Amino acid sequence: MQTMRKQIAAANWKMNLTYQQGEKLLDDILGESIKLFAHQQVIFAVPFPYLLMSRSEVADEYNYFVSAQNCYHKKSGAFTGEISAEMLHSIGVPYCVIGHSERREYFNETNAMLADKVNLCLENSVTPIFCCGEPLSIREAGTQNEYVATQLKESLFHLSAKDLKDIIIAYEPIWAIGTGKTATTEQAQEIHAYLRSVLAGQYGQHTADEVSILYGGSVKASNAAEIFACPDVDGGLVGGASLVAADFTEIIRSLKA
Ligand code: PGA
Repeated sequence: MQTMRKQIAAANWKMNLTYQQGEKLLDDILGESIKLFAHQQVIFAVPFPYLLMSRSEVADEYNYFVSAQNCYHKKSGAFTGEISAEMLHSIGVPYCVIGHSERREYFNETNAMLADKVNLCLENSVTPIFCCGEPLSIREAGTQNEYVATQLKESLFHLSAKDLKDIIIAYEPIWAIGTGKTATTEQAQEIHAYLRSVLAGQYGQHTADEVSILYGGSVKASNAAEIFACPDVDGGLVGGASLVAADFTEIIRSLKA
């Protein structure tokens, strides 16, 4: 089962790079011609205006994909400046990051709103990369398990087992994002195993074993292999280090073979 579960290196560019820099970065990474196994994927979550360019860059590459970084929680209508899941689908975008901690924090996204986004993505054949993770105060209080379990329950547990299997989960402790502080491999494995047990409690072990759970938070070329080797860590969602071709290619090479 373990080797069959998808192992994913996902780049989260956030609000970085110009179009030209993004194009060059993709050229440099794809120029390395890293061949992926059937169970491995590389996903580039790029800014909206770069989606079509990025999609055509990866079009001929086996198991390389693009992702949006967000979509709106309503279907369509008078929401100036927003982007719907249907729009993403209409330009052939197969993935969308949902509920990144920066969106929860700076754009007041709630678990209920994220449940709506997840539904709209699934209705439009866009696979959500659903982010969860606790702030430092919660980790210090030792209540991180309850905190992340609530995030999963309130945004995902209305789904059928079939739909849940289509989702990628990214666990990103907020205290590790962009701080250079990575969770230890023990911390990562422990909470990933816990998240999988929460999924198993709701959907059964078989379904839980099929869901990829990525780790995010200061993943670097130097620590990726160690973190990705944890049995319940199925790759990573990578911010800073995904902006440097040499670093991200090393991270891709660190996926479980
Ligand atoms: P980081 O960001 O790798 O720069 O810590 C990860 C993320 O926020 O997805």
